[in-house]
Amino acid sequence: MIAPLADLTVHHKPRGLSDRVAYGFVKALRFCADTFFAKRYGHRAVVLETVAAVPGMVGATLNHLKCLRRMEDDRGWIKTLMDEAENERMHLMTFIEVAKPTLFERFVVVAAQWVFYLFFFFLYLISPKTAHRVVGYFEEEAVISYTHYLAEIDEGRSENVAAPELAKRYWNLPEDATLRDVVEVVRADEAHHRDVNHGFANELGGLPQAIVPAVWPHEQLQPHWKEAA
Ligand SMILES: [Fe+2]
Ligand SMILES: [Fe+2]
Repeated sequence: MIAPLADLTVHHKPRGLSDRVAYGFVKALRFCADTFFAKRYGHRAVVLETVAAVPGMVGATLNHLKCLRRMEDDRGWIKTLMDEAENERMHLMTFIEVAKPTLFERFVVVAAQWVFYLFFFFLYLISPKTAHRVVGYFEEEAVISYTHYLAEIDEGRSENVAAPELAKRYWNLPEDATLRDVVEVVRADEAHHRDVNHGFANELGGLPQAIVPAVWPHEQLQPHWKEAA
């Protein structure tokens, strides 16, 4: 299968206090996740995707309300953020087929949702730029984690099982697609979220804009897959 195009090397160098706070926060959470999950990548994906699906919906809600209050256009931000939330939820629905969370992990998900939703909501109210930068850095880390997951599969430590049916339908994957193919398309999605959110933070901070393709990475590839099929 041809992997979706994704630049895996992108890193936004922190500039100013807001960026440094965002980067420090994300690195601290990465340390916690590494300690808690170690190399259990399937479980890691399930738990972290429940968190990853929150910011898009918070950002969409608050931008929606702001546009209503100010009676102004959203320049496509609301749909982009809602699409991101749905895409992250599809990641969750995919990985739940691959790894079943333990009872303790389910408890962590419930507790973390309350804390993270409220935290991110107030962060977005106070500083949308910092909030989008936090997500940009989260997504940089997600790209790294899914690269590690691919290595686990390639080196035989995680079994390369058949792709879940739901994942094949959502990403238009071929019938014989495997977990490796799924992780690759998910990683391309995360790279896309990273570029979108760093782009939004740049725009709010008055920095030059990177051009982010409006289509999802897997949509760019669909014709190739159809040819190959
Ligand atoms: Fe995700
Ligand atoms: Fe993401």
